[in-house]
Amino acid sequence: HGLVRTVAKLGVRTGDPQAKLIADPATRANPKIIHQELRERGPLVKGKVAFLTVDHALIFDLLRSDDFRTVNQGSNMPAPMRLIEKRTRSGALHPLAPPSLLAVEPPSHTRYRKLVSSVFTARAVNKMRDGVQEVADTLLDELVASGASTVDIVPAYCAKLPVAVISDVLGVPASEQQRVLEFGELAAPSLDLGLTWPQFEEVEKGLRGFDAWLSAHIAELRKNPGDDLMSQLIDASEDGVYLNDEELRATAGLVLAAGFETTVNLLGSGIDLLVRNPDQLARLQEDPSLWANAIDEMLRLETPVQMTARVARHQVEMAGKTIDKGKIVVCALSGGNRDPKVFEDPDRFDVGRPNANKHLSFSGGRHFCLGAALARAESEVALRTLFDRFPNLTTVGAGTRRNTRVLHGYSSLPVSLGEPA
Ligand code: HEM
Repeated sequence: HGLVRTVAKLGVRTGDPQAKLIADPATRANPKIIHQELRERGPLVKGKVAFLTVDHALIFDLLRSDDFRTVNQGSNMPAPMRLIEKRTRSGALHPLAPPSLLAVEPPSHTRYRKLVSSVFTARAVNKMRDGVQEVADTLLDELVASGASTVDIVPAYCAKLPVAVISDVLGVPASEQQRVLEFGELAAPSLDLGLTWPQFEEVEKGLRGFDAWLSAHIAELRKNPGDDLMSQLIDASEDGVYLNDEELRATAGLVLAAGFETTVNLLGSGIDLLVRNPDQLARLQEDPSLWANAIDEMLRLETPVQMTARVARHQVEMAGKTIDKGKIVVCALSGGNRDPKVFEDPDRFDVGRPNANKHLSFSGGRHFCLGAALARAESEVALRTLFDRFPNLTTVGAGTRRNTRVLHGYSSLPVSLGEPA
């Protein structure tokens, strides 16, 4: 079987550390172990099919270098990446296939990004804070009203808040949000390599369902436009010259999916970190001005998007190695985030860490996360409100990690809310 063969080629069964990082589910919960192995082998490690790096400085430079482009462009895709091409054969849009923002370079990238960037500037996001606060309060009121003593905080709060916020930006009605979340859940492993066939089929189901839903939603907005971002994109695609139909769905779909599939992970991991480190929670309670920095420290330690990759446009010399044209370099953002050359005592959670915001969790260069300001703001409001209202919140059990490799977070985290403040 083609897919199984490629997974074997990746070297998962041979215990190759590079393969373990990219595809082995066994190391999902604790990527640190592999990072350590790689760090000992130098800044740039040549694996069976790709180069790998956990080096902060190298990742920083590489993401900004014009010698590299994002994966899945053109026809000279290296073997493991052809999996992505196969996955889109059903015709469903894939987040890592053109014309997704993540998979294109200028001039297309500039054109799509210009259409959506003004909505997510720090200034624009600041105006959304009141709306996020309202969502947080409403969700927590509902939890209190339910009277349950133990709640699974991931589906009840961490997942619902980001989807409500990004839906508001894109004009997705509240009644549709649960469906959108369900498609997202099915499609989440689409960023991973080394899927089994049953997983692959689930992903396809999610991507196809999301695509069909998006087409219907766009058709609806064409008839009844609002003052939301999706309606603006539809407007820009009206004559098909500036944005064709596929580009419209890809751009709107990626902003929507990236808007809720990532922040959910930071919220779950952040709650867990604060419960496990009561001294750090106490510092935040004493000095709430530390919250913004605490969010960056959570992003650093729990890196919601664990890795990204780039392809060499031509032969490149880097860190004493020759990277041939078309070769992939996997950048372990989470590894760079624990580089001891940049972060002192890197495994320690320190909400006052002076350089916490030097993390790589939002990538870098022209693909730097479009939603970084929104993600920071909504995470701060969400976590601060939760712990202000329930200062005695505790977790019940260890929780369950998501079944994904690139996306890193909890699918379930039962908590006891404790006495409200
Ligand atoms: C791109 C992480 C939240 C929208 C990215 C990339 C990363 C990332 C690592 C770049 C991937 C690469 O370089 O290959 C995160 C994290 C988030 C978050 C950790 C939350 C904690 C959001 C939100 C939005 C969003 C709330 C909503 C607007 C996007 C988009 C891109 C992107 C549209 C593609 C940008 C481009 O290729 O030009 N994000 N993201 N993200 N993110 Fe986020």
